[in-house]
Amino acid sequence: MFGKHGRQWRSMCKGLVLGTLLTSCMILLYCLSAPQVHFNLLEVPVPYSCAHRPAPTHVKPIINSSQHTVGLAGVCTPKMDIMFMKTHKTASSTFLNILFRFGEKHRLKFAFPDGRNDFFYPSPFEHTMVKDYRPGMCFNIICNHMRFNAPEVAKVLPTDMSYITILRDPAELFESSFHYFGRLAPMTWKIPGEDKLGEFLHDPHYYFDPDGFNSFYLKNLLFFDFGQDNTLELGDPKVEEGIHAIAGRFHLVMMVEHFEESLILLKDALCWEMDDLLFFKLNVRKDSTVSKLTPELRARALEWNAADWKLYQHFNTTFWRKVEAYGSQRIADDVAQLRRRNAEMAAICIEGGHAVDAVNIQETAMKPWQPIGEKSIMGYNLKKNVDKAHRELCRKMLTPELQYLTDLGVNLWVTKLWGHVRDLINW
Ligand SMILES: *[C@@H]1O[C@H](CO)[C@@H](O)[C@H](O)[C@H]1NC(C)=O
Ligand SMILES: *[C@@H]1O[C@H](CO)[C@@H](O)[C@H](O)[C@H]1NC(C)=O
Repeated sequence: MFGKHGRQWRSMCKGLVLGTLLTSCMILLYCLSAPQVHFNLLEVPVPYSCAHRPAPTHVKPIINSSQHTVGLAGVCTPKMDIMFMKTHKTASSTFLNILFRFGEKHRLKFAFPDGRNDFFYPSPFEHTMVKDYRPGMCFNIICNHMRFNAPEVAKVLPTDMSYITILRDPAELFESSFHYFGRLAPMTWKIPGEDKLGEFLHDPHYYFDPDGFNSFYLKNLLFFDFGQDNTLELGDPKVEEGIHAIAGRFHLVMMVEHFEESLILLKDALCWEMDDLLFFKLNVRKDSTVSKLTPELRARALEWNAADWKLYQHFNTTFWRKVEAYGSQRIADDVAQLRRRNAEMAAICIEGGHAVDAVNIQETAMKPWQPIGEKSIMGYNLKKNVDKAHRELCRKMLTPELQYLTDLGVNLWVTKLWGHVRDLINW
């Protein structure tokens, strides 16, 4: 008798405690992740040049630059004020790792979000979202996920900053976004069958609700990330206007499909060194989870994401024009050199020389963040006996985004708590 009551009482208590805990967690999460109210401090515009700009650590002679950023006596100085618009599902984690290392090397000041790894996406960016922002303060690099908002971005970096971004083929991007974020958009829950993507694309207007929660993940996500209206149809003149606005703002638009060429163009535009471009592909999906779009589905995906497709084609044209201006042979040589250097680094740093499934990653510090409901993102094991000269670089190059952000001083408690809750309920 007593035992049975005891058990009931205990399980009731457990349920109560767990429920209370979860509820408080959620309330806390909500309070802290919603943009905070800021008192009306006197706002001073950011000065044209930052007072405490670190002195350039090296000045290299210009050899053959197509950009003609030649300063006095034929030298160029590396550009360190960078706005990187991190679009979704576009290899941008790999690029962020490059930026983090560059920032550390030159002791640059990052404008980071507070408590989580994005600037309250999908809310449009506001300068008050920057961690430790004070009026008049100047940063060097801003690179976390945001919904782009030009006037607000301009408030936290010097006026001569370089705007960089990266695009990916919209059909591939749509597939990836559907796979990765589909479950976060309730409108996909009612799609029947195994092949939800195919079913959706057969009648997108039936399934898509522009007012649905997280609907932006399922239509013109690039356009949305750039702060534009993602529900525009192709004939709308606002599509052209949007593309024009982006073209007028960004100095370099990289292409995922030509990532190495993009990096060489970046090096040229910002006067960086080849060493700054070394990278390992981070956040790669397991092959088995990468679906291959049939030509028919691809055509449907492009038609459905027509604004993104137009955007992509526009910047594809300007990209190849830049490649031509740089020199086709010259860029091919540089890409070959970069690949050689990356392969050397992989041999030095990576156990087995390649990425492995998440379950086979030994160090927690090297485990990448996983999409909801699966463990499809691969990662790396750092070799155990890396020589001293390379040890630190290897570790940095292999560190996943969230761990690197933590190393750089970003408190990610909201993101982490969310991860723990997911672990707990095994989602
Ligand atoms: C520019 O580079 C190309 C190939 O790398 C070389 O043939 C050419 O002489 C260089 N031009 C100048 C002005 O240095
Ligand atoms: C991108 O531009 C190149 C060079 O003009 C062209 O060959 C290629 O077909 C274009 N790709 C797309 C997707 O438009």
